[in-house]
Amino acid sequence: MSSVILKLGGSVITKKDREMQADFKTIKRISREIESALKQSPDLKLVLVHGGGSFGHRIANKYNIHLGLKSRNQIFGFTKTIQVMRKLNFILVEELQSLGLPAIPLQPSAISIQSGGKISEIYTKTVKFALDMGCIPVLWGDAVFDEKQGHSILSGDHIVAFLAQNLNVKRVVFGTDVDGVFDSDPNTNRSAVLIRSITTDNIEKTLQNISGSKTTDVTGGMHRKILEVLPLAQKGIQIEIINAKRDGYILQSLLGKQDLGTLIFNQR
Ligand code: IPE
Repeated sequence: MSSVILKLGGSVITKKDREMQADFKTIKRISREIESALKQSPDLKLVLVHGGGSFGHRIANKYNIHLGLKSRNQIFGFTKTIQVMRKLNFILVEELQSLGLPAIPLQPSAISIQSGGKISEIYTKTVKFALDMGCIPVLWGDAVFDEKQGHSILSGDHIVAFLAQNLNVKRVVFGTDVDGVFDSDPNTNRSAVLIRSITTDNIEKTLQNISGSKTTDVTGGMHRKILEVLPLAQKGIQIEIINAKRDGYILQSLLGKQDLGTLIFNQR
């Protein structure tokens, strides 16, 4: 049985505009959807990765963790970023465990090294052991040691891409706070159209179209995400971008429904 990786974006599980506030209601609902999916599909092997939202990003930006270690006061910021991410992870894992799910936190900063902001190594053996034992490994975007620059940020999306290539993964689901990839910014253009499927053949044309938009959040962020997942799609891994804020979407997606958002796949 192959595994599914589910990424829960930071903007889904935290309140964006409030510093270090988890969105408990959404975390509870998503945890119940995961529980329900696993009940209905007990063979499902699931890896969870979550983002930082209003927990990690602010403190990491304040101390410029992504730019590398240049002054002593950043060392405290590095440890603090790791700690606030542990707090957010604790909330999610507690919720999953309260439903009887064997979620196990695997702290990325303890099992990964980067070099110039790019992954050199993630020790995936623990992830494999956890999956084989029937656990749900939970990883997250983190501040990590960096052999070139002291420290850097390892994003949840990069963890997803690395794990997908190093584990037997057929599907990756990105639970975001938007409906998928649009042809223009839906916040400013009311006639923006949701792109239902992107194939490795038409991906470049699609990217050209959406890059016309000046926004950073919706299409800009999506543009980067698509580029990051492209190598996965080329390897035959199916990528889905769905709106995890919508009731039942995580559940349906984990059960295999494919028309919930944008699907990115290899046509050949
Ligand atoms: C960021 O992780 C983690 C830190 C800033 C420490 P992500 O980049 O995966 O987070 P989101 O999903 O964008 O919030």
